[in-house]
Amino acid sequence: MFTAHHLKAIENKSTPFYFYEVDLFRATLASLNAAKGNYHVHYALKANANPVLLKEIVSAGLGADCVSGNEVKHALDNGFKANAIAFAGVGKSDTEILRALEAGIFAFNVESIPELEVIHELAKKTGKQAAIALRINPNVDAYTHKYITTGLEENKFGINPHEFDAVLSKIAQLHHLRLEGLHFHIGSQIQDLSVFKNLCTRINEINKWFLQKGTNIAYINAGGGLGVNYHEPDNYRIPDFKRFFDVFRTFLDLQPQQVVHFELGRCIIAQCGSLISKVLYVKEGVTTHFAILDAGMTELIRPALYQAYHKIENLSVNLPATSKYDVVGPVCESSDCFGKAVLLPPTKRGDLIAIRTAGAYGEAMSNHYNLRSAEAPVYFST
Ligand code: LLP
Repeated sequence: MFTAHHLKAIENKSTPFYFYEVDLFRATLASLNAAKGNYHVHYALKANANPVLLKEIVSAGLGADCVSGNEVKHALDNGFKANAIAFAGVGKSDTEILRALEAGIFAFNVESIPELEVIHELAKKTGKQAAIALRINPNVDAYTHKYITTGLEENKFGINPHEFDAVLSKIAQLHHLRLEGLHFHIGSQIQDLSVFKNLCTRINEINKWFLQKGTNIAYINAGGGLGVNYHEPDNYRIPDFKRFFDVFRTFLDLQPQQVVHFELGRCIIAQCGSLISKVLYVKEGVTTHFAILDAGMTELIRPALYQAYHKIENLSVNLPATSKYDVVGPVCESSDCFGKAVLLPPTKRGDLIAIRTAGAYGEAMSNHYNLRSAEAPVYFST
């Protein structure tokens, strides 16, 4: 809910822009830290790499999870320690690997046997040791949108169990690699916690397999994926981190020396951000009214790409929501639609519209399609 204080920060600005509630963000980080106990959390920069927000994350003591060389650089430039940076991704280039080796990152999350060979070759050439975790495809269904499901056999991510023997024989020959962890990430926007229980069961089986082979695994990285409530952002402002971590505390069977890492993105930042836009036109269709905004899929692509729901509010009118609008953007694509038949109060040109829960994968996925203006500006509540 936007307080008078927030509304003041929003008024008289040119739209569209992203608005982050820093007070809520700090409270979210405090709640995460209170719940995580001795678990290590790396923030997934891909969700939102805005430097102002990263500063808060560094102060809260989190590490970073990166998926490109530029993200690794950005994390270092914004104060994350190299030894707290995990570097994942199915397609790391030689240049990206070399830079990460140079920086001395915490771990490469390795996704295939050919990647093991390339990291080894580059580490050998530069006289380094690369600390690695094997990204494992546990074949656990995340029951989320198919574009953000990653842990099934048919997905491109991770190493499949039938390759484990070959991986261990390979690693035994690659002396510039140090196997330290097992990494899992099965998908994003997971709200049913029983999915994480299923993940724990698979992790236990796989961890046991490696142990029986005499491999010393120092840590488990259970990835990210905790979902948020897009339908009721005001009732679920801060995710229930305790319930999430308790699943792992209850169901993971660890060796005494083993520690657990996570790579959370969305649940840390999603509820803290909104996309603020203005109504350019209200247009009467044959069966519907259209509210045409000055923000589009260029500022928030999630509805177009994943048919994702985001709550839409009219901040200018304090009347009951009695009319239905298709809320659309200006981009020349029919998929540039934030919501169909959205209940709003009677809405007119110039009204300010908030598209909620846009903190994760909003600004980070913005683009310039249709030669729309470069980055939309960003404002923060104090
Ligand atoms: N770790 C790895 C290896 C990942 O691939 C991801 C996200 C994360 C951690 C962080 O996941 P999170 O906690 O944010 O769920 N653009 C999509 C989401 C794509 C997620 C990609 N990987 C969306 O807007 O829903």
